[in-house]
Amino acid sequence: MSVTQVDHPLAQHYLTTLRDRNTATPLFRETTRRLAYLLVAEATSDMPRTPKQIETPLEPTSASVLGKPIVVVAVFRAGLGLIDAATDLIPNARIGYAGVQRNEETAEPMEYYTKFPTMTDARVLILEPMLATGGSLAWACDQVKQKGATDITAVCVVSAPEGIAFMKGRHPDVRIVTAAIDRDLSENFYIRPGLGDMGDRLFGTV
Ligand code: URA
Repeated sequence: MSVTQVDHPLAQHYLTTLRDRNTATPLFRETTRRLAYLLVAEATSDMPRTPKQIETPLEPTSASVLGKPIVVVAVFRAGLGLIDAATDLIPNARIGYAGVQRNEETAEPMEYYTKFPTMTDARVLILEPMLATGGSLAWACDQVKQKGATDITAVCVVSAPEGIAFMKGRHPDVRIVTAAIDRDLSENFYIRPGLGDMGDRLFGTV
């Protein structure tokens, strides 16, 4: 499984703003969107290209366009914070939604809402900003594979080593793009040092 850490200075600058506990919701939301542009750019950097002949105002030239469609799947809730950047960059993207919560008795991911477009032959970008235990991401990968996805990249803001190891076992074919690989998980499964609860900070539900 490939894991790409986006170490671009802008990405790390934005990440610092997100990690700072004093960053309030409006700036947190804006900064998430800015960072998402860089993460989505990296997650599509190996896309196939199709040659296209066009004419500039001056002369004919050989150019290229994306060689396959892109599906973006936002994992609730925090994945919604990345979706505007993804659809800005890829206006033709089809969008899926994956709602999952942890079953407090079994600790297993429990689906409460899914809606997926056709994904055969598409690059599927799963927006899962906090890769903690990996349970939700692995579940989302199971769902999209059942719908025919074979080319999957997870777009994460912060990842824990535990989540990466879990994904290696469950979905070794899935590429992970992340701005950071942090130290570990707390006893409540928060990433350390992390940035806290991404959904709460994005939506002001603290
Ligand atoms: N989800 C979050 O929002 N934050 C974490 O640290 C882990 C999971």
